[in-house]
Amino acid sequence: MPGSPYTLRAAAPADYDAIAAVVDDWWGRPVLPSLPRLFLDHFHRTSLIAQSPDGGLAAFLVGFPSPSLPGEAYIHFVGVAPEARGSGLGRTLYERFFDLARGEGRDVVRAITAPVNAASIAFHRRMGFTVGGPVPGYHGPGTAMMTFTRKL
Ligand SMILES: CC(C)(COP(=O)(O)OP(=O)(O)OC[C@H]1O[C@@H](n2cnc3c(N)ncnc32)[C@H](O)[C@@H]1OP(=O)(O)O)[C@@H](O)C(=O)NCCC(=O)NCCS
Repeated sequence: MPGSPYTLRAAAPADYDAIAAVVDDWWGRPVLPSLPRLFLDHFHRTSLIAQSPDGGLAAFLVGFPSPSLPGEAYIHFVGVAPEARGSGLGRTLYERFFDLARGEGRDVVRAITAPVNAASIAFHRRMGFTVGGPVPGYHGPGTAMMTFTRKL
């Protein structure tokens, strides 16, 4: 990332522990149960890590081409360290993932978020996603989620 202090690289399974250590803090609520280790074990090739100059975790994206829907890719989680927000890091991760998804022959990217996550909704709008929802019962009874769709 020219002009940026951060280094972008593909994720590795071993990144899971550093991610798991910060996600509840970065989200401001308990979200770790939605990000079990399997995501890094099985989807690291298409997931991304941004490292600080000291080697610490500055941001991450967990995403993958859908194994079942040939035209689609899905972003499961994106997180930027609170001190690194607002500097374009989230945008950089998304744009890198869009390139990666195009390279895999995908022309739609989808994601979801909780209706309470106003920052995520605003971020996805700025990234060109169409926002839908809240969809009642998305994750079963009593749940609702916002949906995001972007054509590549
Ligand atoms: C949402 C999040 C990933 C954004 O990361 P970021 O690095 O701060 O975002 P960027 O600086 O790249 O911003 C990209 C665009 O989104 C907009 N944006 C980002 N956060 C925003 C907010 N809270 N409110 C309004 N707009 C916002 C920026 O203004 C920018 O617009 P522009 O490029 O057109 O000027 C970050 O706030 C975060 O990690 N939040 C906690 C975790 C989370 O909720 N993740 C998403 C759900 S999985």
